[in-house]
Amino acid sequence: GKGNHRHFMHKEIYEQPAVIGDTLSTFVNPATRTVALQDLPFDLAEVSRVTIVACGTSFHSALVAKYWFEKLARISVEVDIASEFRYRAAELPEGGLALFISQSGETADTLAALRYAKSQKQHVAVLVNQPESSMAREADVMLQTLCGPEIGVASTKAFTAQLAVLACFAIAVARARGKIDTQREAELATALAEVPSRIAEVLADEEAIEALGKSLIDARDVLYLGRGTSYPLALEGALKLKELSYIHAEGYAAGEMKHGPIALIDDQMPVIVVAPHDELFEKTASNVQEVLARGGKVIMMSDAAGIAAFPGKTLATIRLPDCDPFVAPILYSIPLQLLAYHTAVHKGTDVDQPRNLAKSVTVE
Ligand code: M6R
Repeated sequence: GKGNHRHFMHKEIYEQPAVIGDTLSTFVNPATRTVALQDLPFDLAEVSRVTIVACGTSFHSALVAKYWFEKLARISVEVDIASEFRYRAAELPEGGLALFISQSGETADTLAALRYAKSQKQHVAVLVNQPESSMAREADVMLQTLCGPEIGVASTKAFTAQLAVLACFAIAVARARGKIDTQREAELATALAEVPSRIAEVLADEEAIEALGKSLIDARDVLYLGRGTSYPLALEGALKLKELSYIHAEGYAAGEMKHGPIALIDDQMPVIVVAPHDELFEKTASNVQEVLARGGKVIMMSDAAGIAAFPGKTLATIRLPDCDPFVAPILYSIPLQLLAYHTAVHKGTDVDQPRNLAKSVTVE
């Protein structure tokens, strides 16, 4: 049941500290501050290329993973949505690793993409929440998020738990390839182990986010911006708002805004900016100035340092706890979920069962 929550989605948002803790406990050893995967039927050090394929929210976790794998493990990663990948005759060098991400393990396009990768002699791994699923059965390796059932059609805890596993996967590949030293691995393991309590801190800020959600209900369009790993977060924030509140929303790479969407910005346009104080912060901040100069209503998600460093005047800020930038995508998911949730609740839409959507898309 929903316990004392009004919706399954709300309950699932609040389950995140626990389920991410459970999921991480399979991979992270807090005593030795190391990260390890289960034994694999192939050698990670020999993998020359990674292909990650998924749909919807799971595709957004794949995009975050691309940044992590490239930066930490210095390996080439290609990411695609399953409905495109399966039909485009992708050239996959033998011995590559193909990873399929799916909460349900049943999404038709992702399963077809998996079968294609198998026919191309890839090592096939899946990251699923449902271990008894078609994808789990057909893969060479199964990685699992330990979320329990996700009932809300809008994916929340499955997304952040996918990110947690993918972070561990990236560290493991980095170590196999000799690209990470013990000290950095220890820092990252600690940062990951602290994620559940940091999420609990963000959840404590729900009231402020609820008020912002209420302020969005009459918006016609909402733009989400981010750079680096915050770019896929912008895509995910926009997807959540669309599917829950039926408000048109678009996620954009902050630096790409001036190549088109800036034409949309006027004083009616809320712009949500995902901007932890990381190495790209200054770049994002200058894009935000361009939005402000055109009257856009900026809602900025950042940490204390980012909020202090930002020179412009935003409509509102959502302050996130300090964290290693590596784990920021997991933390910044939470306010994006809550914002979409509260906008929808104030609009009166069906949060757990949005119109036209199914939890599991088993037809193409
Ligand atoms: O079960 P899967 O992860 O394969 O599902 C993929 C998408 O259908 C799913 O993430 C969808 O985009 C959600 N409704 C997003 O909240």
